[in-house]
Amino acid sequence: MVWTRRHILSLADFSQAEYDVVLQTASSFREVLSRRTKKVPTLQGQVVANLFFESSTRTRSSFELAAKRLSADTINFAAGTSSLSKGETILDTAKTYLAMGTDMMVIRHKEAGVPQAIAAEMDRLGVRVGVLNAGDGQHEHPSQALLDLFTICTLLDSEQPTLSLLEGKKIAIVGDILHSRVARSNIWSLTASGAEVHLAAPPTLLPKWFAEYVTDSDNQSAAKPRQLFLHWALDPALEDADFVMTLRLQKERMTSHLLPSLREYHQQFGITRDRLKRCKPEVKVLHPGPVNRGVEISSDLMDDPQFSLISQQVTSGVAVRMALLYLMGGGKVA
Ligand code: NCD
Repeated sequence: MVWTRRHILSLADFSQAEYDVVLQTASSFREVLSRRTKKVPTLQGQVVANLFFESSTRTRSSFELAAKRLSADTINFAAGTSSLSKGETILDTAKTYLAMGTDMMVIRHKEAGVPQAIAAEMDRLGVRVGVLNAGDGQHEHPSQALLDLFTICTLLDSEQPTLSLLEGKKIAIVGDILHSRVARSNIWSLTASGAEVHLAAPPTLLPKWFAEYVTDSDNQSAAKPRQLFLHWALDPALEDADFVMTLRLQKERMTSHLLPSLREYHQQFGITRDRLKRCKPEVKVLHPGPVNRGVEISSDLMDDPQFSLISQQVTSGVAVRMALLYLMGGGKVA
């Protein structure tokens, strides 16, 4: 296949072939990262700008490292110390980076739709700049879902990670689904694979209308009808699950009292060793980070390598982001 996507903004319309290309390409970069010299000249001379209008630890550092491992020049923008505070608009900020010769922009913003608006502006200007959504409001976070997918698929087959490995698997996504762009992107990729995706949260964090998030939309990229189930209790989602993805309670996005208390939340929806007994014996737990220890996941479980894939997710993130920048930068599909 030939990679034709200039921007990576959402996974809603990703095809099976695109998922597989990302997985294969990330797999070859994982091999590069295991070498003594962990660098390739692929993006030499290209400029990657990381425009983070919202806080980030792992996503920003991971994109920066990915770009550097590909030998690109990187520019990092931090909203707090920029001319935004002097009244410059976001589009003007993006155009400033364009004028410096930026080839790819990695954008995070607290409002949904900002990376899409910048991508549309770049297209309108007729410039060949690729825009990657590194998290827009509560909408999507494609690179996180792709690194989650890569982490799971390489566990199932470390040599040949492909989307179809997930067919028939049961995956529980637990926690603050309402505010989670990670959940939204993961729902697209995981349901496209033919896995059964079970969402579990209190009704305030998983409104009924959420079921329509997938069923209302275009179903073209899924192998089979997408299988998405909603639960307002944890146990039915965990029953025989192969993977459990737990999400941070996004207190900064909660505008009203959506929960009685964190302690009660942990009792009802917190992932603990005991709760995992309902799952398959070889179950693995994922979390995109940052973690509220002892709230969405018990502290001991988070650090237990028998169950936790959290540090593998962070490691996978660099290889997956190298793959995305490589493909957007016109790299050949293996
Ligand atoms: C997530 C994010 O920022 O969307 N974190 C991440 O990118 N690793 C999830 C979160 O903030 O809880």
